[in-house]
Amino acid sequence: MLITGISQLVTNASGERGDLGVIHDAAVAVESGRIAWVGDGGGVPQAYRDRETWDVAGRAVLPGFVDAHTHLVFAGDRSDEFARRLRGETYEQILAAGGGIHSTVAATRTASYDDLVAGATARARRMLRGGTTTVEIKSGYGLDLATEETLLRAAQAVGAATGIGVITTFLGAHVPPAEVERGLYVDQVIEEMLPRLADLAVYCDVFVDRGAFTVEDARRILKTAAELGLGLRVHAEQLSHTGAARLAAELGAASADHLDHATAEDAAQLAAAGVVATLLPGVALTMGLPQAPARLLWGAGVTVALATDCNPGTSNIESMPLVIALACLEMGLSPEEAVWAATLGGARSLRLGDRGRVVAGALADLVVLDAPSHVHLPYRPGTDLVWKVMKGGRWVS
Ligand code: NIG
Ligand code: FE
Repeated sequence: MLITGISQLVTNASGERGDLGVIHDAAVAVESGRIAWVGDGGGVPQAYRDRETWDVAGRAVLPGFVDAHTHLVFAGDRSDEFARRLRGETYEQILAAGGGIHSTVAATRTASYDDLVAGATARARRMLRGGTTTVEIKSGYGLDLATEETLLRAAQAVGAATGIGVITTFLGAHVPPAEVERGLYVDQVIEEMLPRLADLAVYCDVFVDRGAFTVEDARRILKTAAELGLGLRVHAEQLSHTGAARLAAELGAASADHLDHATAEDAAQLAAAGVVATLLPGVALTMGLPQAPARLLWGAGVTVALATDCNPGTSNIESMPLVIALACLEMGLSPEEAVWAATLGGARSLRLGDRGRVVAGALADLVVLDAPSHVHLPYRPGTDLVWKVMKGGRWVS
């Protein structure tokens, strides 16, 4: 297949942070699910000229979005808590009173596998239509062996049902379940859950914070996970500063996420250790809190990714275009930095070398905007600008 008439093609070819490698008046050839050739529309090689041609008539084309942090598999609805927070209660008060994550855990434990898959599949379909071609999905609303296993299997089923790329993460250490003391639960995660569930996940994550787990808990859990061959991620410095970003650097984690309370020292450590900072601007928007220090992290040389954190509590957001707009309007990233972070940054966060760029050999995961350039994403927040989406060489919307 040959795609022509591209007003502006974002390639991310150099791999340098924020360098979109834009080609104007471009064309792209796709073969066997991969990018075969990329270049000037006037210089299409003879071999590709007689292919089935899609003329996108002056629209912009970007790599598919890589959403590197979601909690997509859950049951229930927390719109009531959302409304309570808008009337003045805090997230931590609701969590401490047995609500928050605990209410989603209760709903999730009683839901059937089929209902969990159906809910997550509907969310993933909307994401795909919005340009997300790869999504990381965490467990973490089961908090017992059987339900955590169900959630990881459901996450895998979402990929099979929709065609979206799915990377699974075991987040058994989301919060201690109401019925088990924290230390005992950490032992269960290490001794029972990780050995049984490691084959179902690519990554292991721990939520380090007040009301969740300590840096010491996380160190034990993540070291065990690494021994079992899992990559590491950390919910770090979200509600308070705990030292979790430092731990991510110490353990060589793929990503430290949230980072709302990260310091200059944390930024230096993440940069030196090559840990990606996965930032989630939908959370601060939803919670009415200040945004993470994106400029500090970028300026320190940290590789930044952007993700939705789609979950029923702190960010019920499925749209990467909205996240890009928030990163520009609320975090101070430029359109180029934000688009890079939502594509190649996400791929780096998940250590996926085959996507996030439109270069020969990469997966043919593409977004066509009904707009002439990527700048329209932050410029027109809330307008559905995703015109067509290709995943692995096939138009999926
Ligand atoms: O990423 N930080 C912890 N976990 C989620 C929130 C989950 C929830 O409130 O259900 C987050 O914000
Ligand atoms: Fe999260």
